[in-house]
Amino acid sequence: MKSNRIIISFLGAGLAGLTGWAEVTIPITTPNTALVLKAADNGRVYQQYLGKRLANDDEYAKTRCGAEAYITHGMEDYFEPALHINHADGNQSTLLKYAGHNSETQADGSTLTTVRLSDEVYGDNVNLFYVTYPDVDIVKSWTEITNGEKKPVEMEKYASSMLHFNAPAYYLTQFNGDWADEVNATELPLSFGKKVIDTKLGARPNMFVSPFFQLSLGEPAGEDSGDVLVGTLGWTGNFRFTFEVDNDGRLRVISGINPYGSQRVMAKGETFTTPEFIFTLSDKGRGQASRQFHDWARKYQVHKGDESRMTLLNNWEATYFDFDEDKLIGLIGEAKELGVDMFLLDDGWFGNKYPRHSDTQGLGDWEETANKLPNGIGALTEAARKQGVKFGLWIEPEMVNPKSELYEQHKDWVITLPNRDEYYYRHQLVLDLSNPKVQDYVFGVVDGLMTKYPDIAFFKWDCNSPITNIYSNYEKEQSHLYVDYVRGLYNVLDRVKAKYPDLPIMMCSGGGGRSDYEGLRYFTEFWCSDNTDPVERLFIQWGYSQIFPSKVQCAHVTTWNKSASVKFRTDVAMMGKLGFDLKLDDLTPDEIRYCQNAIKEYNRLKPVILEGDQYRLVSPYSGNHTSTMYVGKDGRQAVVFAFDIFPRFKENLADVKLKGLDPKVVYTVREINRGDGSSRDAGSYTGDYLMKVGLPVFTLGKLTSRIYELNAL
Ligand code: GLA
Repeated sequence: MKSNRIIISFLGAGLAGLTGWAEVTIPITTPNTALVLKAADNGRVYQQYLGKRLANDDEYAKTRCGAEAYITHGMEDYFEPALHINHADGNQSTLLKYAGHNSETQADGSTLTTVRLSDEVYGDNVNLFYVTYPDVDIVKSWTEITNGEKKPVEMEKYASSMLHFNAPAYYLTQFNGDWADEVNATELPLSFGKKVIDTKLGARPNMFVSPFFQLSLGEPAGEDSGDVLVGTLGWTGNFRFTFEVDNDGRLRVISGINPYGSQRVMAKGETFTTPEFIFTLSDKGRGQASRQFHDWARKYQVHKGDESRMTLLNNWEATYFDFDEDKLIGLIGEAKELGVDMFLLDDGWFGNKYPRHSDTQGLGDWEETANKLPNGIGALTEAARKQGVKFGLWIEPEMVNPKSELYEQHKDWVITLPNRDEYYYRHQLVLDLSNPKVQDYVFGVVDGLMTKYPDIAFFKWDCNSPITNIYSNYEKEQSHLYVDYVRGLYNVLDRVKAKYPDLPIMMCSGGGGRSDYEGLRYFTEFWCSDNTDPVERLFIQWGYSQIFPSKVQCAHVTTWNKSASVKFRTDVAMMGKLGFDLKLDDLTPDEIRYCQNAIKEYNRLKPVILEGDQYRLVSPYSGNHTSTMYVGKDGRQAVVFAFDIFPRFKENLADVKLKGLDPKVVYTVREINRGDGSSRDAGSYTGDYLMKVGLPVFTLGKLTSRIYELNAL
C-alpha cells in the first residue's frame, strides 16, 4: 500500500509537465477517521473528504470534493486564505500545485504523510505534513514553507492547517476567562462571516482564552452523542483560530500562529515550519473526543506521559513570601507527615541586593537570600533527603524585575520600547528570548541550580507577565519577535530536556496562562489556575479535561473557601494530580488524618485516575451537582467522584448512570474516603445495571462529596 502511494506520487509529478495532471488520491487515515486529499487534473490539491472512515477506500472518490486544501491569497477564492506571501517583485499571488507525496512509518509507529506543493511561477515550496496513529484517532498536521525565490519574501499569513466542513449548522465551543477564572466553556452558533479566537499576549498566551476548541457539526454535541471536531494548536505563544462560514454555508477552519504583528521575512532558500495543529473527530460526542486526546497525550506527546506523577506539598499559599530556613524545614517535615512524595519551595527564596520579599523585586537574581536561607538550598534538599521526600523548586527564569541586579547589568536583554516609558505587569518585564545570549542565561538558571544541587527533583517554571510594549534589541526584524520568543523558549527547553531527561517540570503562568500541547512535550504537568477554591476548580478541571488528561492537571488542596470541608477540597483535587498548598496548622488533627488517608487512597488508585478512561457524568454547568468517573484500562476497576454544590431545597435527585464498565461483570461498590476516613459497602451490581440504572451518588447536602471505588468481582 505504502509503495503504491509512492509510485502514484512519482507518476503525478512526472506527468505534470507533459500531458496535464493525473488525478491522485491521498488518504490520511486513523482507525476511525479519514482525511482524503485529491490532486485534481488541474494540479491543485483539494480536500476530498473529512469524516468517519469509510469501509471501502474506493468510495472516497464518490464524495463531493471540497475546497482547495491550503488556500492561498491572490487567486480566485473570496474568503480567508491559509497562506499569504508578498513576493519579491511585489506580486501577492501564490498558486500551489501538486508536486508529489509520500508516507512513511515513524519510530513510534505513527505514519507521516507529506504532501508537496509548489508555485511554478515563483518556485516557492509548501509541504503539508500529517501524522496519524495506528491506535488512536488523532491527526497532527503542520506546514513548511520555503522561499524558492532569488530574493527575500514576506509572509503575511502562514497557517498550520486549513480544514473544510459542509454541515447544516455549526456550533463552536471556546474556553475563555481570565486570571483565576480559566477555561469557561462558551458555546455559540456560527453563521455567515468570521469568528476568530486569538491571543496577543506573547509569553503568557492563554490567559484569556485557551488554545483549543470544540466544533459541533449539525447540532451541539453532547457528552456521548453528536459529531464534534476538537482541535488545538501546539504553540506556547500567540495563536489564532479562524472559523469562516461562506455564502454557501460551508465552513473553513484556519489554525496557526496569530499573524498579528508577526509578518515574517524569509531570506532566499529559508524554510519556515509552523507549529502543529492537532485534531480529533468523534461521532459519539465530546467525551469520546476527550478520551482520544487523553490516550494520545499520554502515549505520544506529553513529557514522561507514560509515567506516574508525584504528590506534593507546596508552600505558596501556606507562607507566600514569609519564610526562612526553619519554617521550610518544618514544612518539609509536614510533607513527610502528610505522606506526599515531594516538598515544593515556591517564590521568594532568592535575591540579595534586592531580596525577593514581595513580587516587586529580585526576579532575575537566582541566588538564595542569605538572611532567609543562610545554608542555601542545600540545607533544604538535605532536610528533604532525611525525611525521605523529594525537593522541588520554583523558578521564573524568563522574567526580570527592574529592581534586580540582572536588570542593572543587562538592560538590553529586556523586551521594552527604547524610546518610551517602561510598562510593568506584576512589577516585571520579559527577557528577550530571541537573543541566544538570553537563551544561554535562561538555560543557565536551571543548569546552575542542578549542577549545584543535583538533588533538586522537580521545578515549577512560572511565567507571570505577558509580552507588552514589544521591542527587541537583538532582532533585525521587529515583527519576528513574538514567534522567535517562543522558538527561543523551545531552544532552552530542548537543552534542559536533553541534559536532564528525567527532570519533571510544572508549566505555570500565573495560574493557567500556559497550557498547550507543545509546551507539554517539555513539561510534565501544568498549574491549572491560581484559583484553588474547590467549587471553581470543579468548573476549571471540567474545562481542561475536554482535552488534557488528569495527570497533567495540577490540583492542590488549599485554604481557599473554608466553607467547603477538607474532604470536599481533597476530593476535588484527587480528580487531577494531587497536591497540597497549606500548613498542617490550618487543619485539625482529624482533618490531617483525613488527608493522610486520602493520599494513601490516591496512591492506590492512581493507575485508574491518572491512566484510565475518563467519563464526565454530570456537568457542573448543568446545575447543582457534578460527577466524573475514571475506569481502569482493563475495565475491572473504576472510581466515581460525586459533588453536591448548592442543591435546592427538596430537589429531585436522580440516580447517575455510570459509563465505560463491562456490562457482564459484577462490581462491588464501596464508598471510600468518608469524612471519618472509613469506607462503606454500597452493594454489588452488574456493569449493565450501573450503566442502565445508575447509583444514587448525590445528596441535598451543601458542598458535600463522595468517592466510590468499583472493583470487578
Ligand atoms: C504565580 C503562580 C503561583 C505562585 C506565584 C508566585 O502566580 O501561579 O502559583 O507560584 O506565581 O509568585
